[in-house]
Amino acid sequence: MSESLLAARDVRMAFGGVVALDGASVEVRPGCVTGLIGRNGSGKSTLFNCLTGFLKPTSGVVELDGRDITGHAPHEVMRAGVARTFQTPRIDFQTTGRQAVLCGLYPRVSHGFVASLLGLPRAVREEQALQRRADEVVERMRMQAWADAKVNQLSMGRVRTVEVARAIAADTRFVLLDEPAAGIGRDEMRVLADEIRGLAERGIGVLLVEHNFSLIRVLCEDVTVLDTGAVIFRGTPEEARQNDQVKQLYLGAAAAGEAA
Ligand SMILES: Nc1ncnc2c1ncn2[C@@H]1O[C@H](COP(=O)(O)OP(=O)(O)O)[C@@H](O)[C@H]1O
Ligand SMILES: [Mg+2]
Repeated sequence: MSESLLAARDVRMAFGGVVALDGASVEVRPGCVTGLIGRNGSGKSTLFNCLTGFLKPTSGVVELDGRDITGHAPHEVMRAGVARTFQTPRIDFQTTGRQAVLCGLYPRVSHGFVASLLGLPRAVREEQALQRRADEVVERMRMQAWADAKVNQLSMGRVRTVEVARAIAADTRFVLLDEPAAGIGRDEMRVLADEIRGLAERGIGVLLVEHNFSLIRVLCEDVTVLDTGAVIFRGTPEEARQNDQVKQLYLGAAAAGEAA
């Protein structure tokens, strides 16, 4: 059996004349947090979209456990165990955190839609099992105290937590987090860092897009740096910090500022 791995290989994505990805590759391994960094517009979100089926690359391959899944639909990729969050949270702000987690479980539901509408016994049992599973996820992500408040009442940090919880609710093996720390405060950032570390400890492979390099440094074993759609560096965060090209392109100001 081939090794468990999510990978993009030599992916190119052109939008008309705009080349968003120009032969980019990245690998995500179970139990590891891989950082994906680069300036705005360098192609990070586009690479996420290609990895999760939201975009079909112009060329190149997306591979899951050695199987070519290029161009598979988002729900198929999700069923195969790859989940994601979005740079701008895509959550119904009128639902509660617990309901949002429950929504994340529906890709797993096997009974027919009609059976569910008719409330047939099997559908009811399945529904109860899903509720229990949602409760487990709420507990694991330490959301109990506020899981039943509407999402529109929550701080940005908690909204992001709900998004991560929803993403990993189903049996997720890989999760892609697009700037999960954007717009959240320092304390919430610490909570989020613990959550992300917890995902990796449970064997989930995480791909993390994040501008805050200190977060990358504490969480990631390796980091891939994109610039204008191509990978310009791959190595440990420490090596990235010392690499002249990376420093010049991306870290310059940030690295100087965060030495404090
Ligand atoms: N749907 C799209 N149509 C046209 N251009 C796009 C589209 N999505 C992204 N781009 C362009 O591709 C480049 C990479 O964008 P993106 O992947 O969002 O970068 P990042 O997430 O690193 O900030 C940018 O130049 C952006 O304007
Ligand atoms: Mg982006």
